[in-house]
Amino acid sequence: MRFSTITSSLLALASFSAAAEIVKRAALTQVTSFGANTSGAKMYIYVPANLATKPAVIVAIHYCSGTASAYYSNTPYATLAEKHGFIVIYPESPYSGTCWDVSSPASLTHNGGGNSNSIANMVTYTLAQYNGDASRVFVTGTSSGAMMTNVLSATYPEMFAAASAYSGVPAGCFYTGTVNGWNSTCSGGNSIHTQTEWANTALNMYPGYTGARPKMMILHGSADTTLYPQNFNETLKQWSGVFGYTYGSPQQTLAQTPSAAYTKYVYGPNLVGYYGTGVGHSVPVMGDLDLAWFGITGSSSTTTTTTTAAGPSTTLATSTKTSSPATTTSTSSAAATTTTASSGGCTAVRWAQCGGTGFTGCTACASPYKCTFSNAYYSQCL
Ligand SMILES: *[C@@H]1O[C@H](CO)[C@@H](O)[C@H](O)[C@H]1NC(C)=O
Ligand SMILES: *[C@@H]1O[C@H](CO)[C@@H](O)[C@H](O)[C@H]1NC(C)=O
Ligand SMILES: *[C@@H]1O[C@H](CO)[C@@H](O)[C@H](O)[C@H]1NC(C)=O
Repeated sequence: MRFSTITSSLLALASFSAAAEIVKRAALTQVTSFGANTSGAKMYIYVPANLATKPAVIVAIHYCSGTASAYYSNTPYATLAEKHGFIVIYPESPYSGTCWDVSSPASLTHNGGGNSNSIANMVTYTLAQYNGDASRVFVTGTSSGAMMTNVLSATYPEMFAAASAYSGVPAGCFYTGTVNGWNSTCSGGNSIHTQTEWANTALNMYPGYTGARPKMMILHGSADTTLYPQNFNETLKQWSGVFGYTYGSPQQTLAQTPSAAYTKYVYGPNLVGYYGTGVGHSVPVMGDLDLAWFGITGSSSTTTTTTTAAGPSTTLATSTKTSSPATTTSTSSAAATTTTASSGGCTAVRWAQCGGTGFTGCTACASPYKCTFSNAYYSQCL
């Protein structure tokens, strides 16, 4: 539930504290100056009316063709922020087609000046402005946003305590050497590497770093034809390698968790995977599952991974205790009508959205690309 503008203004006034208040409460607001931003990414923020004293921060990253506003509207994080008092940062891609740059050396390197660097600067800025809890910074995202979630987890491991990636690819898998490139070998599920190779790809994004790393939750659908499901396996290989877990034999396999279509694989306290049978691109955001994983809710509030135990851990995964009941929040944007071909001569470019519930843009794709169904809410020119 969001508060009305009037209510939030009053609440904001009531708790106004000097220069700390930079944006209106309880409203998605752009922040135009947040530090170095050579990659031109845009920053939007949601500061709840009900702000905690030392708030946690969640970075929530949109998919290709998405915007900060769309991700704000179609995911439950802002609503949950009012309930739990955390701040949400919604970065927005500066590129046409609004995919994230997860392909250039700049973005795949700690402090390399790419999109990942801009997003890290948004976090640093927010922590300073709001006296945020630096030990409770989390990142999540869908599709291209999930790719960026994996990239941020590799390039800024010191910044994030936990991450959840909805239908992405391993960090570095989209490498093309160019800014905002598309690696179709990877998207097609044909970038297959060993556990050690994938782990090194992530570790090399911040050479020499030996501190704590975010615990990773990886979600993917078996019927994903945009980022093929092999990317689930490759991503788990990557992070199991980083944490020293055995990829081939998860510690626990739980059917129908958190809901009928999904199987949960527990590799250790720092890594779980959820594989949705028959689920396409993308897995719907499950806000309650995220908050439990982040430690914002749940019986065990362990949020940091202070130790990255060498070798396979025999400790029963924390996550099995913190997982909340299977509440699933859909990314649906209500209206149930699917756009029919509007013709009018307008064509969508490669990678752009071309259909889905509530979508009102061009439904024809520029040649030779075809409008490819991903799920009820998203078709894309591929
Ligand atoms: C970051 O780039 C965006 C888009 O070009 C711009 O609107 C914003 O002002 C920039 N912010 C900074 C701090 O450079
Ligand atoms: C995509 O990544 C693979 C490595 O997994 C690499 O061999 C290939 O050259 C990349 N594609 C492009 C277009 O750069
Ligand atoms: C990838 O992971 C899924 C889920 O665990 C499994 O069913 C599938 O066999 C794996 N694929 C490969 C090639 O290992």
